Amino acid sequence: MKKILIATEKPFAPVALKKIEKVFDKAGKNYQLVLLESYKERKELLQAVADAQALIVRSDKVDAEVFEAASNLQVVIRAGAGYDNVDLEAATARGVVVMNTPGQNSNAVAELAIGLAIFGLRELFSGKPGGELRGRTLGLHGFGYVARNVFRIARAFGMKVIVYTRYSKGAAAAIGLKVTHSLEQLYAKSDVVSIHVPARGEHIKSVSYEILNELKDGAVLVNTARKEVVNEPDLVRIMEEKPNFKYMSDITPDCENIFKEKFEGRYFFTPKKAGAQTAEANINAGVAAAEQIVAFFEKGDRTFQVNK
Ligand code: 3PG
Repeated sequence: MKKILIATEKPFAPVALKKIEKVFDKAGKNYQLVLLESYKERKELLQAVADAQALIVRSDKVDAEVFEAASNLQVVIRAGAGYDNVDLEAATARGVVVMNTPGQNSNAVAELAIGLAIFGLRELFSGKPGGELRGRTLGLHGFGYVARNVFRIARAFGMKVIVYTRYSKGAAAAIGLKVTHSLEQLYAKSDVVSIHVPARGEHIKSVSYEILNELKDGAVLVNTARKEVVNEPDLVRIMEEKPNFKYMSDITPDCENIFKEKFEGRYFFTPKKAGAQTAEANINAGVAAAEQIVAFFEKGDRTFQVNK
């Protein structure tokens, strides 16, 4: 019997849990599903994971301490796209396979990005005259699954869309999407920029003063990715220098207090990361996670392994 622990500080929708259970029921009697939802203390996770063979998480921190506590652990599935919350080196050192579920929650995040763009352009629904998406230029910073959904939705709104990507130029060209030569150029030409790069490598703090300074004064920057990709002191400086610039984010920055003090009406931060917080996204990512675990144990399938 393999213990599968679902440990989520931010719980899945109940309908998603039912569907996850079904996947394991269908796979036979070899799986025992254990739920640790909305846990407040880290020690709850450390205790629950102690005898688990598989772990499903969302943005929950899975660091060396967790791997240390989980001596039977063979596989961790991050039910979602970004796996910056999982210590891959610690996993590899202990021979644990880590996978994500790419693309599964991308429409939900994309819809939120568009929602934040509208909220920003409409002056946070304050009653001040705002602007419309139609006819404006949207710059996609990155072109993964979320950005591709944003592109689809933005086109339906009548936006002109451009993109800066290093790794997905072919995919962008295939659908006739203009790829800018540089990130600076993307920011300079856009009325709305939406960030869709992971918190890894060259992307960390890649949204710097030099890049932000290219933005038009009235531009809206939407961040449904990670706070780590933005250089926060540079962002604060730009907020000061461009009085009509707005920052709409699904991730509260560390410098939230400065925003509260100085930039009222020009920013919005969701109280808790909400991009993937829909029943549909939870079903897609949760069921994919469950299926990947079954495929891993039954067939040794490691298709979405990220710590190769
Ligand atoms: C992701 O990386 O998949 C999204 O940021 C969603 O994260 P969440 O599962 O914590 O909502």
